[in-house]
Amino acid sequence: MQDADILIINASELVTCAGPVTGRIGDDLGKLDIIRDGALAITGGRIVAVGPTDALLSAWRGKETIDAGHRLVSPGFVDAHSHLLFGGDRCCEYEGKVKGRILGANLETGINATIQATRRADDRTLVEQALSDLDEALLYGTTTLEAKTGYGLSRDHELRLLRLTSGLEHEVDILPTFLGAHVLPDEYRNRRDEYVQLVIDMLPDVLPYTRSCDVACDPACFTAAECLRIGRHARELGMTLRVHADQTGDAGGAAVAAALGAASADHLDQSSAEGLRAMAAAGTVGIFFPGVTFHMLEMVPPLTEDGIGAAEKPYMPQSVRRALQAGVVCAISADFNPGSCPSISMQMMMQMAMRLFRLSYAEVWNMSTLNPAVSLGLAADRGSLEPGKRADVLIWNEIDHRRAVNRFGSNRVDTVMKSGRIVVRGQNLIRSTAAPAKSASPAG
Ligand code: NIG
Ligand code: FE
Repeated sequence: MQDADILIINASELVTCAGPVTGRIGDDLGKLDIIRDGALAITGGRIVAVGPTDALLSAWRGKETIDAGHRLVSPGFVDAHSHLLFGGDRCCEYEGKVKGRILGANLETGINATIQATRRADDRTLVEQALSDLDEALLYGTTTLEAKTGYGLSRDHELRLLRLTSGLEHEVDILPTFLGAHVLPDEYRNRRDEYVQLVIDMLPDVLPYTRSCDVACDPACFTAAECLRIGRHARELGMTLRVHADQTGDAGGAAVAAALGAASADHLDQSSAEGLRAMAAAGTVGIFFPGVTFHMLEMVPPLTEDGIGAAEKPYMPQSVRRALQAGVVCAISADFNPGSCPSISMQMMMQMAMRLFRLSYAEVWNMSTLNPAVSLGLAADRGSLEPGKRADVLIWNEIDHRRAVNRFGSNRVDTVMKSGRIVVRGQNLIRSTAAPAKSASPAG
C-alpha cells in the first residue's frame, strides 16, 4: 500500500482529458479519455495516480478520502485569454448592435470607450471588480486564467494594469500578458508610428511583471508589419508572443503569429488557409471564442430595412473547422471583456462552442482543458488529470460529461480543488476570513 494525502473515489466518469503535451489534433481531438467509476490519488497538491476506484483503493491509502458520489470528475478549466481588468461596461453598445443602430464590429470605438473608463477608475475599483470576476470564474470551474492588459494604452496606465494584475491574490492562477498593442488609442490618431514606438519602448519596463506579450493584428487594430516590429522586439527580450488575429478581416495575423513563433493566435475568424497552415507548422495554438461569436452577433448579418435581417451567414463555425483541417492545435477560451464577451464562464463557452462551431462533446472538453494549457506552455503541469500534474479538479452535479455540456445556463460544478486544496464546496467559496493565500507560481 502506498500513502497519499487525498483520494477522490467513486467518480461516475473520471474525464481525465489526458493527451500529449503538444495537445490533441485531428481525429485525436474527438477522443476523450474517460475512466468509468474512476478515482485519483493526490500528494503535495499533485496527482500521483489515476485509475478505476477498485484498483486505486487496493494500492493507495489516503489520509483523507473524498467520495464523489457517482458524479462526474474533471480537470479544472484553463482559460487562456481574458481582459480581466477594465472599467465601466458596454451595455449600450450591445443594444445598439442588436437593434442595428451599430453596424459591424465597432472595435476601435468600443475599446477606446473602455480605455477611458479604465483610466478613470481607481485602483481599488479595478481590483475589487477583478476579484469578484475571479470568484465567479472559480465557482464555474476555471482554475487557471490568462489576463491581458490593453485598456490602459499609455505607459503609466499599462504599467498600472500590470502591477494590479500581478498583485491580485486569488485561488485562480493568473498569468498576466502585456497587450500595449490592442488598438490605436484615440490621442494617437494619425500618429501610428509614434504609438508603435511607444509600445516597443515600454517592453523592457513590463518584464518585471510578465514575459508574455500580445499584439492585435486586425484591420481595426495594427497591421502585420507593425505587429512583426513589436513582436520581434518582444522576442529579443525573451518574451513569448500571443496574437489577436484576423477577427474583423484578414490582416495576415495568422501568418504573423507563425512567423513570430507565437504561442497562440486567437480569433482567426477571417484568417487565410495559408496563414492557418503556417500556424500548424509553427506549432502556434489557435484559440476560438464562442462567447464573442454569440455576443458580437458574428453569425448574424446587420438588420435589413424590413427589420428582419438577411439569412444567417454561417461562416464562423467554418473558421474552427478550417483550422482543425489545417492541423492547428485548437482551443476555446472566454475572451472575457466588457465589449465582445461579458461572460467568464467556461461552462457557457463549452455549450456555445458545440452549438456555434458544431463541435462534439469530446472536442469541446479537450479544447477547454489540455489544449489551452498547451498555449500557455503549461501542458506538462496542468490541463488534464494525469500523474505528475497539479491537482486542479472539479466535481460536478452531473453524472456524465455530455450532460455537463448539454445543460446550459446554470452552474453545474459543485466542488473545485486547486492544487490539492478544496476551494469551492457545494457551490460556495471556502475561505477563512483572512485573504486567500497567493496561489503558487504557475510553473512551480
Ligand atoms: O479580444 N482586438 C480585439 N480585442 C478584443 C475586443 C475587446 C473589446 O471589445 O473591448 C477581443 O475581442
Ligand atoms: Fe481579446
